[in-house]
Amino acid sequence: MKVAICGALGFVGTRVARDLAAAGHEPLLLDVAPRSPHPLAEVLLRRHEFRRCDLTDPMSTRIALAGAEAVFHAAALGAKVERERPWETAHLNLMGLVNVLEAARRERVARLVFASSAVVYGDRDATAPVAETDPRPAAGTIYAATKAAGEDLVAAYGAQFALHGVSLRFMNVYGYQPAAMLQRELTARVLERVEAGEPPLIFGDGTASFDFVHVDDVARAVCLALASDATGALNVGTGVATSVRELVALVLRETGSALQPEHRPGGGAATTLRADTAAAAAALGFRTAIDLAEGIRRTITEYRAAVEPRAA
Ligand SMILES: NC(=O)c1ccc[n+]([C@@H]2O[C@H](COP(=O)([O-])OP(=O)(O)OC[C@H]3O[C@@H](n4cnc5c(N)ncnc54)[C@H](O)[C@@H]3O)[C@@H](O)[C@H]2O)c1
Repeated sequence: MKVAICGALGFVGTRVARDLAAAGHEPLLLDVAPRSPHPLAEVLLRRHEFRRCDLTDPMSTRIALAGAEAVFHAAALGAKVERERPWETAHLNLMGLVNVLEAARRERVARLVFASSAVVYGDRDATAPVAETDPRPAAGTIYAATKAAGEDLVAAYGAQFALHGVSLRFMNVYGYQPAAMLQRELTARVLERVEAGEPPLIFGDGTASFDFVHVDDVARAVCLALASDATGALNVGTGVATSVRELVALVLRETGSALQPEHRPGGGAATTLRADTAAAAAALGFRTAIDLAEGIRRTITEYRAAVEPRAA
C-alpha cells in the first residue's frame, strides 16, 4: 500500500515511515522541509520517494497526494510554539488538515489516520484514566482547539464521503529528538542537560504526572490504525502516569549520573493524566510494549549514537 505521510520528516513521521517500509508498504514522504536534523530522516530520504509540499497550499497538497492509497497526517505546530506563532499554528493545523482531507477525498483515498493529542482532555488532575467517551472540555489553548476541531473534521469527512479516518490521541510522546528539532519533548531536554553534565531542571514541585509513551509504540499504533477500519478517536498511551520528578530520576539513573535536579518556579497547573487503553486494545489490538525505563534506555542509546563523540 502506498501511504502518504504528511510531516514525514518529523519525530513521529520518521518512525511511521520506517515501520511501514519494514512491513512491505511504500511510504510516500511529504514535508515542507527538504531535510531534517533527525538521522533517520536522512536514511528515509535516500530510500523512499519524497515530495516537498506545503500543506497550507491546496494545490501543492493535491499534487503531493497523487497516487496515495492511505494517509497518515502528522504535520502540525504544537504546544511548544503556539504562543509565539498562534496564527501559523491555527493555519497549519486546521487549513493543512482540510487541504489533506480534500486532496484525499479527490484521490479516493480510503484510509486516513490523524495525529490528535491528549490536549483535547484539557488540564486534568484525576487518578482515573481519560477515556474517549469522556466529555471534551472547552479548549484552553489554540493547539487544543485545532486538535478538537481536527477530530471533528476527520469524522465529518468520514460521514459525508467515503474517507474513513480515525483520530489517535497521542499522550506524551518521548524518544530521541535531535537538539535542532523545533518541537522537543521533556525527556529529550532533560537528557541533553544530563549528558552535558548540567543538572536537570524541574519547574514547580515536579508532581505533575503524564502518560509518557515511547515513539516506537506510537508508530506501531499508527500502522495498526492504517490497517484497521476503526473510526472516531482512540487513545495511544500506556495507562501509567509518571511524575516529572520520577521521570528525571529515571533519566539520572539510566545515564548513571550523580547530578541532582535543580528546582525552579513555575510548572503550570496540577496535572495527572493517563490514558484508558481499552478502546485502542479492542479496536486495534494495540497495547504499548515499551515501559518507561526501557524507553529511556532506547532514547539514551540513540542519543549517544547520534551525538559526536566529545574530544577527550
Ligand atoms: N510529539 C508529541 O508528544 C505529540 C503528542 C501528541 C500529539 N502529537 C501530534 O503528532 C503529530 C506529529 O508530531 P511530531 O512530534 O512528529 O511533530 P514534528 O514537529 O517533529 O514534525 C512535524 C513535521 O511537519 C512538517 N511540516 C510543518 N509544516 C508543514 C507544511 N506546511 N507542509 C508540510 N509539512 C509541514 C515539519 O517540517 C515536520 O517535519 C503532530 O500532529 C502533533 O500535534 C505529538
